[in-house]
Amino acid sequence: MATPQPRWITETEPGHSEWYIERFRTMAEQGADLAGEGRLIDAMVPRGSRILDAGCGPGRVGGYLHEVGHAVVGVDVDPKLIAAADADHPGPTWLVGDLAELDLPARGIGEPFDAIVCAGNVMVFLAPGTEALVLRRFAAHLADDGVVVVGFHTNRDLALADFDRAVDEAGLHLDLRLATWDVRPWRDDADFAVSILRKAPGSS
Ligand SMILES: C[S@@+](CC[C@H](N)C(=O)[O-])C[C@H]1O[C@@H](n2cnc3c(N)ncnc32)[C@H](O)[C@@H]1O
Repeated sequence: MATPQPRWITETEPGHSEWYIERFRTMAEQGADLAGEGRLIDAMVPRGSRILDAGCGPGRVGGYLHEVGHAVVGVDVDPKLIAAADADHPGPTWLVGDLAELDLPARGIGEPFDAIVCAGNVMVFLAPGTEALVLRRFAAHLADDGVVVVGFHTNRDLALADFDRAVDEAGLHLDLRLATWDVRPWRDDADFAVSILRKAPGSS
C-alpha cells in the first residue's frame, strides 16, 4: 500500500511552499536569529558529526550545522523547499524524500547519523498515523549512541501522549524533554515540546 501523503501536502493551500520560502528569506535578510535549534544540536555532539536534518524545509537548520563544521544531509518531501535549500545553503546534501520511506543507504548514504534533528513542527505535518513509522526510520539511520531531537507544538494535530506512544513503538526512548529550544525545562502546561530521544536499551 502506498504511504499516505503528508499534511504539508494535503492540508496546505497552493502557494504555501513559496510563501514559506519567502518568509524565511525575508527573516534572514532582516537579520533574524534562525539558528536556535541548530545551536542546541551543535552543543550536543562533537564538531564534524554526521547530522540528518529530517524535514529540512528550505535548510536553515542544516545550513547552520554545515557552516559550523558538521556533515549534514537534509531530507524533505517538498521539492520546492529542497530547491530553496540548495540555492540558499550550499554545502549539505539536500534530498527530496518522504521520511516515512527513508532509506538513505539505498541512495548511497550508508553511514549512520550521530544526530537527527526534526525541527519546525515537522511531526505535525506528517501524514496522520505515520509518526511511529517515521521515528522507526530515524532509529534505523541512527548510530548506537546517537540522538534524535524533535520539536513541535503540542496544541496542534498531534497529542504528546500519541507522540510518546510512537516513540516507544519505534524502539526509542525519551531521555529528556524541554519546553523550548533555548533549554527551558518541560512543564505540563507548555505548548511546545523538544524531545531528546535515544535508542531504547537492547533495541539496536
Ligand atoms: C514547517 S516546515 C519546517 C521546515 C524546517 N524543518 C524548518 O524548521 O525550517 C515542515 C516541513 O516538514 C516537511 N515534511 C512533512 N512531512 C514530511 C515527510 N513525510 N517527509 C519529509 N518531509 C516532510 C514539509 O515538507 C516541510 O518542509
